[in-house]
Amino acid sequence: MCGIVGYAGSAYAQDIILDGLKRLEYRGYDSAGMAVLDGDRLQVRKRAGKLARLVESLTGNSLPGSLGVGHTRWATHGEPNETNAHPHLSADGRIAVVHNGIVENASQLRHSLEAEGIVFRSGTDTEVLAHLIARHYAGNLPEAVARCMREAEGAMAICVVMQGQGGLMVGARRGSPLIVGLGDGEMFIASDVPTILSRTRRVIYLEEGDICTLRRDRCDILDAAGAPVERLVVEVTFDSAAAEKEGYPHFMLKEIHQQPSVVSHQILTYAGDRGGHISLPGLIPLYERMESLNRIVIVACGTAWHAGIVGKYLIERFARVPVEVEMASEFRYGDRVLDDRTLVLLITQSGETADTVEAMRMAKRSARCTLAIVNVEGSTIAREADAALFTHAGPEVGVASTKGYTSQLSALALFALDLAGKRNVLCEEELCVWLDRLRAIPDMMERCISRRDAVRNCARKPVYRDALHAMFIGRGFGYASALEGALKLKEISYIHVEGYAAGEMKHGPIALVTDALPVICIATRDAVHSKMLSNMQEIKARGGQIIGIVSDGDTAGAELCNDVFFVPECPAPFSPLLAAIPLQLFAYYVADALGRDVDQPRNLAKSVTVE
Ligand code: F6R
Repeated sequence: MCGIVGYAGSAYAQDIILDGLKRLEYRGYDSAGMAVLDGDRLQVRKRAGKLARLVESLTGNSLPGSLGVGHTRWATHGEPNETNAHPHLSADGRIAVVHNGIVENASQLRHSLEAEGIVFRSGTDTEVLAHLIARHYAGNLPEAVARCMREAEGAMAICVVMQGQGGLMVGARRGSPLIVGLGDGEMFIASDVPTILSRTRRVIYLEEGDICTLRRDRCDILDAAGAPVERLVVEVTFDSAAAEKEGYPHFMLKEIHQQPSVVSHQILTYAGDRGGHISLPGLIPLYERMESLNRIVIVACGTAWHAGIVGKYLIERFARVPVEVEMASEFRYGDRVLDDRTLVLLITQSGETADTVEAMRMAKRSARCTLAIVNVEGSTIAREADAALFTHAGPEVGVASTKGYTSQLSALALFALDLAGKRNVLCEEELCVWLDRLRAIPDMMERCISRRDAVRNCARKPVYRDALHAMFIGRGFGYASALEGALKLKEISYIHVEGYAAGEMKHGPIALVTDALPVICIATRDAVHSKMLSNMQEIKARGGQIIGIVSDGDTAGAELCNDVFFVPECPAPFSPLLAAIPLQLFAYYVADALGRDVDQPRNLAKSVTVE
């Protein structure tokens, strides 16, 4: 987590850094700060809390200069106060460092620096880096940074400025993302591309171990072995305006509304508007190996892991390949049995989630075949996986994933159908039927969105809004929807919520049912519908407050509920795409009614780039 931006040019660095930090705030918002060099004068300003507090402190009291670094923090080491905010300075105050990642051997390094007489000001691991660079500095800043990176263990990206270097800024990455932006007489360093898109579209994605030295008109890069290297300059085509709210009160609500067009565009891109042909060009590098494939292991975190559960059901249903779904944080430290015929399928919106990145690298090290379903082009996973299937959801800014999730679901449906065709489990006519059913989904999603007022009115009822606990249950595809609905509500409303397989209720959770417990039941029409209705009867008999996600026209289901959100009837494998919408809207409206910070919930960050 944490966002980094650096500027070397001739414009007012403070404004460019603030603009970048505004775009980076999704990565962390515990505190923000910057260091700006004006000639040889290094000035630092930092504040605890949101970026607005830093902006306030600079109003009428700005930092002049055209070289500087900025940071927005998601606290790992040390509480989120002003002292622990970045940048951190060397003891003599000449070197300023901003950092994203974790220095895993920080406490050993700190003890050895303290033994040399260094007095630490903060409780962060980052301050260690500032002192280490100072310790190694012997007239060459990039060299001192390289030595610091060798000594510090863990995944990290840093950006460094120093007095007396004549307009020079140094960046380094290992395990955390860092890009360079090449402007006209100005250079940028940032954690991601949208940060600098308003100034330049020419970017370099730094590779593992790279150290870059930037002056306003020059960029030099050393690779992990210390050899000078030329990296590819990429012309970015996506639009930074896509990351604006466009009249919606929150990014989350905007992104919920974008889902029908995102899913429709993706289906059109990969399967056209008719017929039974799917074209997934990103998969071409895998085609030969896919023939012998006999097992898939899906690896992901959070919402993407929920998409993975839907993916398992889709792939097993359509392509008849056995699938396991693993949390990346478990998979990477486990000792899994993977053979040559196993495909490791990574699902990730950002392409930067630390555990998913490491899971991918682990799979690649043991020569396993890796495929990423990923949104952010140019991200670490998009670049390093053997093959990538892009979800094309556009920038997702709200911390709670919405369009990121549903675009993963439609990509998984297309992948499963494509695999079924390649393995001759489905013939072209059958594919055509299933694709037409999928093509009908975006209009149905639109209909779900048009029913938002019913969801909003329900969410504002005290019995739901003021609940201390809630439970989401479902079976089959509805089970995955229940897990995702529970996570959405929990993360933005702070209500304690559990997602459960409905069939498990009798094995413990039903003990929690009282008239103070809202139970959200995903009960759309499918093969296990009657079983869900039995679960709902049992909850109703115990006084639970039932909200049902029910198919249009299902009066038997609706009668069991205190409140109902109807969704159009669709084939079960695609039902999570519809159920997601009232579940997201419910979470959104409950959180909004409670006055929560919907787009930036406490303790979270959009991109989890630390373990
Ligand atoms: C929840 C949410 C997270 C992410 C998870 C993985 O709404 O957004 O649970 O799904 O952090 O992130 P990615 O998909 O970027 O790997």
